[in-house]
Amino acid sequence: MKTRLFSSYKIGSMELKNRISIPPMCQYQANDGFPTTWHKVHYGKLAGSGAALVCVEAMAVSPDGRISGADLGLWSDEHAMAFAEVVRIMREIDSSTKVCVQINHSGRKGSERAPWLGGHLTKEEGGWEPVGPSAIAFGEGCMVPREMLPGGIEAMVQAFANAARRAQQAGVDAIEVHMAHGYLLHQFLSPISNHRTDQYGGSFENRIRFPLAVFDAMKKAAPDVELGVRVSATDWIEGGWNLAETIDFVKILKEHGCAFVDVSTGGLAACQTIPVSYGYQLPFARAVRQETGLPTIACGLIKDPRQAESVLVEGTADMVDVGRDMLLNPHWGWMAALKLGEKVEFPPSYQRGMHL
Ligand SMILES: Cc1cc2nc3c(=O)[nH]c(=O)nc-3n(C[C@H](O)[C@H](O)[C@H](O)COP(=O)(O)O)c2cc1C
Repeated sequence: MKTRLFSSYKIGSMELKNRISIPPMCQYQANDGFPTTWHKVHYGKLAGSGAALVCVEAMAVSPDGRISGADLGLWSDEHAMAFAEVVRIMREIDSSTKVCVQINHSGRKGSERAPWLGGHLTKEEGGWEPVGPSAIAFGEGCMVPREMLPGGIEAMVQAFANAARRAQQAGVDAIEVHMAHGYLLHQFLSPISNHRTDQYGGSFENRIRFPLAVFDAMKKAAPDVELGVRVSATDWIEGGWNLAETIDFVKILKEHGCAFVDVSTGGLAACQTIPVSYGYQLPFARAVRQETGLPTIACGLIKDPRQAESVLVEGTADMVDVGRDMLLNPHWGWMAALKLGEKVEFPPSYQRGMHL
């Protein structure tokens, strides 16, 4: 019998060969926003992993929208052309794998060194002054962002739209707008980081105004791709953005043409308390899926093929993200097929290795 994990699925017009998705994972290997050999090899490898959908790591809409100085960017047409080469390689390795890209602005979480180096970028290292909805730092010892002016907000909407247009030009099938993990759009959604008194702060309607304007502008700029979002369904902080608000927001996004939602949590502020355990984010995905009916991707510590299968069979999500386990074993999809007794097309060069 065919498993749910290896049954096909459709998001809008995007045909997916199975339910395995690789979530965006920053590599911190870019050069001035341009992909390097690392990205070509890494994403080529993931395109041949057995996953139906590969989401390329967060690409910044502007140089100051990067998290670190080594993030990928889409702030010029030259960046789009360089990214198109990565997409081309992915398709050459496995044309049945769909390519998504995450588009982001880091907001107050920008100007950092790569995680393995730690700390903020200095001016000499190319650091910059981060921006945010309000002049509130992520936590103690973190940089206080410059509060964005209304004109800056309008320019930012345009920057997201331009990046979406470039992603479409580069040939992706889907775009995921990063509204999670405490980056700029999430910073506007959450009352913890957004203390504005203008039309972008205060009530739920005001806090979603800018992220929704970004979504609409991106949709208009990239009408031929499936446009979805990644959300943090809770800040894990008392008085923060929560599941009920997430559901209300996703319902509105659906009316605006959102094709899918990738449900994560947290990342907004240092004072969060996250009860991490296997599948700890799954109840959020389940609630969002049930309440909104939008194609839903669940993520977070989904490691084992049987666990992934039960997430789907129980109706928690339509697809599962496998992140870190794909870094560990970039043929996780093949391994899952063998474990679940499914047949997948192995490249002939590797067929002699296919035994358990
Ligand atoms: C190295 C690394 C980089 C990441 N970069 C991003 C990113 O660019 N955008 C994002 O939304 N999440 C990012 N994440 C979070 C993952 O997408 C994923 O949500 C998380 O790892 C949990 O899934 P997992 O338990 O399957 O790894 C990153 C995670 C890792 C390990």
